[in-house]
Amino acid sequence: KHDYFEYFGRVHGILMYKDFVKYWDDVEAFEARPDDLVIATYPKSGTTWVSEIVDLIYKEGDVEKCKRDVIFNRIPFLECRKEEVMNGIEQLKHMASPRIVKTHLSVKLLPTSFWEKNCKMIYLCRNAKDVAVSYYYFFLMVTDHPNPGSFPEFVEKFMDGQVPYGPWYEHTKSWWELRKNPHVLFLFYEDMKEDIRREVIKLIQFLGKEASEELVDKIVQHTSFQEMKNNPFTNYTTLPDEVMNQKISPFMRKGIAGDWKNHFTVALNEKFDRHYEQQMKGSTLKLRTEI
Ligand code: PPS
Repeated sequence: KHDYFEYFGRVHGILMYKDFVKYWDDVEAFEARPDDLVIATYPKSGTTWVSEIVDLIYKEGDVEKCKRDVIFNRIPFLECRKEEVMNGIEQLKHMASPRIVKTHLSVKLLPTSFWEKNCKMIYLCRNAKDVAVSYYYFFLMVTDHPNPGSFPEFVEKFMDGQVPYGPWYEHTKSWWELRKNPHVLFLFYEDMKEDIRREVIKLIQFLGKEASEELVDKIVQHTSFQEMKNNPFTNYTTLPDEVMNQKISPFMRKGIAGDWKNHFTVALNEKFDRHYEQQMKGSTLKLRTEI
């Protein structure tokens, strides 16, 4: 495992994978198309879940069409770059419209072209504690990620914004400010866990389609945690162990709200809560940490 800080660089002060930073000019120069749809999240917030739902909406509920390729080829990861192995921008360039674009960028870091072209955007937000837990396991299982240390050590880094994509607080607040923009749909992971039908209907309507009962049923069924965990087109198991070692922790790990309770000690939780309150002071954004 790499040394933690040696593995990262920075873009505009935000910690970021060195491999991505090297080609950041390409990210900033990205040319959006007006019919691009952006799926933006802070990492580990349910990106893959909402991506599969949206792809199914685009394919009118045809599950077979969503098995045309693995999720990271159907919905390229904009800023992802690893020399010649992975290049989200290149994938997108060659993709027919309408494209669905995955990104973990904050409002400030998102290429300006998406704003100029008035693209629709979906932001999915998940409570910070469960994100920290999921991120920790991600560090352990993505083979070339540096050692995150113990869980409490990682949580310290998370609170400090010393994790890729920087402080969760700023990221989330930046998108929350845009929640009333008609081009932006702001969703919560916890709401999806609570009532997936309601949230799927929101998504369908946001995309200008008709939410027939049949379509909603199909989507709800196909995108359940168990279905997606068993589906090689969504569970990342097509990647070799050298990239992601799912024996350490599966990509589709638990898929619940409130797993933080199994990881935070009382003391760590109190510390986190105090810091959280400071960071989110003055914001109307309220997240549920369990449902
Ligand atoms: S990534 O790598 O940032 O794109 O990861 P991301 O997809 O955003 O987040 C992964 C977490 O989302 C959970 N997940 C789901 N939960 C409920 N239902 C469904 N269908 C689903 N699909 C993915 C996944 O299990 C990760 O959360 P944890 O808490 O680690 O289980």
